[in-house]
Amino acid sequence: MKTNEKIKYLGVNDHEVNLFEGQFPLKNGMSYNSYLIEDEKIAILDTVDEKCITEYLKNVKEALNGREPTYLVIHHMEPDHSAGIKALVESYPNISLVVNNKTSLMLKNFFRDLDLSHKIIEVKDGEELSLGKMTLKFIFTPFVHWPEVMMSYLSEEAILFSADAFGSFGVNDIDQTYYPDEARRYYYGIVGKYGLQTKNALMKLSSLKINAIYPLHGHILNDNLDYYISLYKTWASYLPEDNGVCILVSSVYNNTLKVSSLLKSKLESKGIEATLINLNEVDSSFAISEAFKHKFLILASITYNNDIFPSMNKLITSLCERNYQNHIIGFIENGSWACNAKKVMSDKLSSLKNTTYLVNSVKITSSMNDENIMQIDTLVDEIESQKLS
Ligand code: FEO
Repeated sequence: MKTNEKIKYLGVNDHEVNLFEGQFPLKNGMSYNSYLIEDEKIAILDTVDEKCITEYLKNVKEALNGREPTYLVIHHMEPDHSAGIKALVESYPNISLVVNNKTSLMLKNFFRDLDLSHKIIEVKDGEELSLGKMTLKFIFTPFVHWPEVMMSYLSEEAILFSADAFGSFGVNDIDQTYYPDEARRYYYGIVGKYGLQTKNALMKLSSLKINAIYPLHGHILNDNLDYYISLYKTWASYLPEDNGVCILVSSVYNNTLKVSSLLKSKLESKGIEATLINLNEVDSSFAISEAFKHKFLILASITYNNDIFPSMNKLITSLCERNYQNHIIGFIENGSWACNAKKVMSDKLSSLKNTTYLVNSVKITSSMNDENIMQIDTLVDEIESQKLS
């Protein structure tokens, strides 16, 4: 990891982990980032996940090169960053913990057998901490991603330590760019519900000159920062990134999938970008990310127990949990004897705000017929006209 010369990287890359938070599939593992700022006083920023503590302590020892750390700044108490606190405190008993009042309480709850009260330095939003020649300023950014989250800003170097924000899935010791796809999947996966709070955080950061962003996951962002910040503004506002169509399909015997595939090819023949995901084969976190990316969302499901198929049910629940909005939704439904999927999907989505629905839809009875092909053509025409509006 290329860091500023005054900052050392202490983090660990976990190439073995397959699931983040026990639920999000990882293609390239996960990094748990931690940093050390070298000044007259040494500050360590965050720690790592429990299974990486041995390697982390080795990294800390090497980086310290015989010196003692003065501060451990805790930006976030989720255990992927805080599990190493106990080991660090035991290795460096004179270290002080720089936290906010919410973190203070959470420390007691996570480390019940450890009395840390005499080590706590509690800071307020906007407060500064001098390290000698450099100063850390603390910026509270609650709910990006837990309520206690704060970021810090190394004023003299214009470096933002952004906690979970601007991070991504994936290790950082391979030459792989995670923006935008894996960063978007990460954002909507873990933070997506808190768009308003993310917008508030971005507003607070807007007055700062930022030369680099050091997140708790993924790569350090050293250049092109306007691009990353602009993406975050789009994501926090639940706005699509393009005018394309995302088609998400729950099909059992491929009849609904065939209709959905025909819709995709007809859209593409008109020059409209379309992505199709089979929800029975692909984890919903990928589908959610694509649903937020494109302006149009087509949900295609069979009727199942007078409801919808479980993979579509899970997807819709996840979209509602994340306040999906500012998109245009349409439906493909299938039912061999009692077709009810469109109504069920509409009902389950009824809590969404700022959502428009396509007038036209496709209704399949068991398998595609000529009428369905005409319905698809009408749907394509409506999408094309809405795309231009
Ligand atoms: Fe990377 Fe919310 O912890």
